[in-house]
Parts: sequence; structure tokens; C-alpha cells
Amino acid sequence: MKALCFGSLNIDYTYRVDHFVARGETLLSQGLQVFSGGKGLNQSIALSRAGAAAYHAGSIGTDGLFLLEELHQAGVNTDCVTVSREIRTGHAIIQNSPDGDNCILLYGGANQTITRDQIDEVLTHFAAGDVLVLQNEINELGYLMQQAHDRGLRIALNPSPMNDTVPDLPLDTVDWLLVNEVEAGQILGCGVTNGVAAARALREKLPHAAIVLTLGGEGAVYADGDCVFAQSAVPVRAVDTTAAGDTFTGYFLAAMLEGKTPQQAMALAAKAAAISVTRPGAAPSIPRREEVE
Ligand code: RIB
Repeated sequence: MKALCFGSLNIDYTYRVDHFVARGETLLSQGLQVFSGGKGLNQSIALSRAGAAAYHAGSIGTDGLFLLEELHQAGVNTDCVTVSREIRTGHAIIQNSPDGDNCILLYGGANQTITRDQIDEVLTHFAAGDVLVLQNEINELGYLMQQAHDRGLRIALNPSPMNDTVPDLPLDTVDWLLVNEVEAGQILGCGVTNGVAAARALREKLPHAAIVLTLGGEGAVYADGDCVFAQSAVPVRAVDTTAAGDTFTGYFLAAMLEGKTPQQAMALAAKAAAISVTRPGAAPSIPRREEVE
């Protein structure tokens, strides 16, 4: 069984700041590091490091070839990544504060040039029972979801970053919905004060999907037709929370695909995400399975 992550590949410019830059302010950063990132690339690497047969599809410019190298080194198949001479690779400008928090400005670049022909071609390499893993950093997501569903692929959707296109997606095709509390609040139209209640409310909106609601340092909640339970977070000192959610997603899905119970998958994902926040950067912070075990 293959896990196809069709998603973004970004060059992450991570600036160390003592506070997030405010409106009208000019702020001198305390340092810059360049990392491989993009929610898609991060989730592919997390899937692969967790042990899944991970395939990545997406688009980059020639300035992003080092992202392919990062994927190869993590064991991800990149045959379905398109490289264009005309377009720049997507990038992210990330401010990283002393408490490990971040805020992110995205430039879509090649991530926003996905074509329906490209989607059709990529899907010919996958079959019923394979899993499509999606975020919300590429265009043509609705078409991709419908085509994959029609071929019998199962769909895991992490609709991040949230925007007003998400309610128009064919959400009835989703088998796993993975959201944080902000995204859950936006889908539900109200703030999340109780994780279990919010996960139940999401199930009512997507009755065919299993729900994974991540709550940062407060842990996470899982809900499907059989069970609802909370998973506590592993307490650590955070250095950089970038890609913690991506690490959680990749590890959770990989464990489910290998036949673990939702309880085992959530516990493994919580440990992997905890390790990732103790290290700087996106992709480089994602741990290997042996470390997590
Ligand atoms: O989830 C973290 C990722 O969000 C970063 O790597 C950045 O590229 C943005 O896509």
C-alpha cells in the first residue's frame, strides 16, 4: 500500500526574532537559517521516517532541487515531482520566537501551478486502497480529491492553512480529517473550548471521517464512529514548533496504515511531534522511527 502526498514543497527562510514583527515596525532579526519545508514535503518525510512507503507529488522550480535531495535522503519517492525552469519554488518566511513559537508568510510559487493533466497523470500510478495525503498549500485540491476518490484511494486531509476555499472542497470524500484547534474552530464556526466536544462536532459535519484534532501542548483528540479519546502531549522544552503538526500527521497516518490501533497511532504521533519541537527547522526536525520508539 502506497502513501501519496500530493502537496507543497517550500524553501523555508527561518528568522530568529525576539518578538514577532508588528504592524509598521522594522525589526532586525538575530539570525537566518534556510531549511527544507512545506507542509507537503514535511508530511512526506514524516510518513517515510515513520516507515510508510511514501511518494511525493508536486511542483518546484530549479531553485528548489535541493528539496528533492532532502526527500530522497528520507526515502521518499519523487518520480511524480515536476520541475519547471519558468517558475520559482514556493517559499515561506518564518519568524521563530524565543519560546519556539512561529508565524509564517507563504509565497505559493510552483505549488500554485498544479494542472489537471498533471493530477491525472500522477494518479495513474496509484490504485484503490492507496492513501492520498493532502494539505491546503496547492491549487486544484477539489479536482484532485474527487479524481482520487473515484479511483478508490482513501483521503487524509489536513486543510492547513485554512482559507475560504476549504468549505467548497468535496469533504464527503475524506477518510481522515486532521486539524488543529484554529482550523477546527473555523470549520465549526465557533471557538474550541473543549477538544472532545469539538471532535464530536466535526464528526457530525463529516460522519464518514475519522477526526484527529491537535491541541498543541494540550495534546490531541481522536474521534471515529467507535471511539472518542484524548491523547496527552509529551512535555518538552520547545525550540521551534515548525512542522510539529506535520510530524504528528505523518506518524499518525503511517501507524494507521501499518495496522496500529488509533490509540497506538496517536501515542506514537504525540511522541514524534514532541521530539520535533526540540529541534530547529521543519524537515530536519522530524525524527526517525527508532528514536521515537
Ligand atoms: O507546517 C510547517 C510548514 O508550513 C513550513 O515548513 C512552511 O513551509 C509552511 O508550509
